[in-house]
Amino acid sequence: MRAVSVSDYRELARRRLPRFLFEYIDGGSYAEQTLRRNVDDLRSVSLRQRVMRDVSNIDVSVELFGARWNLPVALGPIGLAGMNARRGEVQAARAAHAAGVPFTLSTVGACSLREVHAGVQNPFWFQLYMIRDRAFMSDLLDQAEEFGCSALVFTVDMPVPGSRYRDYHSGLAGASGLFGAARRFAQALTRPHWAWDVGLLGGPHSLGTVAPVLKGNTGLEDFFAWMRNNFDPSVTWDDLAWVRERWRGPLILKGVLDPGDAERAAQLGADGIVVSNHGGRQLDGVSSAVHALPRIADAVGERLTVLADGGVRSGLDVARMLALGAKGVLLGRAWAYALAGGGQAGVAHMLSIVEAELRVALALTGVPRADALNRDAVEIVNTP
Ligand code: GLV
Repeated sequence: MRAVSVSDYRELARRRLPRFLFEYIDGGSYAEQTLRRNVDDLRSVSLRQRVMRDVSNIDVSVELFGARWNLPVALGPIGLAGMNARRGEVQAARAAHAAGVPFTLSTVGACSLREVHAGVQNPFWFQLYMIRDRAFMSDLLDQAEEFGCSALVFTVDMPVPGSRYRDYHSGLAGASGLFGAARRFAQALTRPHWAWDVGLLGGPHSLGTVAPVLKGNTGLEDFFAWMRNNFDPSVTWDDLAWVRERWRGPLILKGVLDPGDAERAAQLGADGIVVSNHGGRQLDGVSSAVHALPRIADAVGERLTVLADGGVRSGLDVARMLALGAKGVLLGRAWAYALAGGGQAGVAHMLSIVEAELRVALALTGVPRADALNRDAVEIVNTP
């Protein structure tokens, strides 16, 4: 199958990945209502068709945090994304760099900060969770600086993890020890290309940046146990101040869904926020990101760079988010699918698809500049 859309890449990913990895990317928490809402609410935003405007020159570039990017999108942080292709985060970071968009490495990525730095030789963004061990957090911040990360994405919507039923059903979570490993091994055998390319040749398999504190315990169970035991549920606004003191570069608070929280982030010196419900992977039942976006953009858009994610599966969705107040959009599952479906070339191709779709959206809404999109470009405001 030749992919021509993000949904084609999803299908390729489904065919190529062992079940436990596909379900991990594709799934959300509990009944997955918020996961579906993200997609459905975004698609329900009607773009306004306008005609007879000169759209021969379309500009999709955007300035974010003092840098010019070729597209108003970034590859957002995804845990374990590097398992979707051999040394996957390096491949994705290279594709992002070539396309002129930021790549964000997750705290719990498969490749380490050092490896991505060595592989891409250019700045990328680093995502950090609040971790109980503040000395380790400080060390991660130092590493992010050492390896030239140009922005810090501080994720705050996971003081405790949401329960993802699909991960229990697939054997990624819950199944302990040998039994879980045997289930995943059996699933990998049904995907020989992945088993050979990633499973066998793609090692060492560890949680890149976190591996040193796991002290050689590299199993998936060890990873989940580490997450459960080390993500800090006591995180408060004081911790944002703590991070702010230690990180001089652009600081982006990810996981904001409420205008009051956005206001607080602005007061405490964040440079940006990501309006996000963690891709529907945390509290099922909360509103979609696009539903929350306009009110948050109204509250803090003048003071903070407002980014958004959740449900973006096309360039048209990017246009919708921009029209409703985002300055840029994080892609999550879209790049994980593309990485699984085609490695670095897949991610590059997916970004070119999104760009082409965005160009068409701009041309047919009669707004030739991505950074000039506003609510005039959509029919429905505030009630997606
Ligand atoms: C981690 O951030 C996850 O959503 O699994």
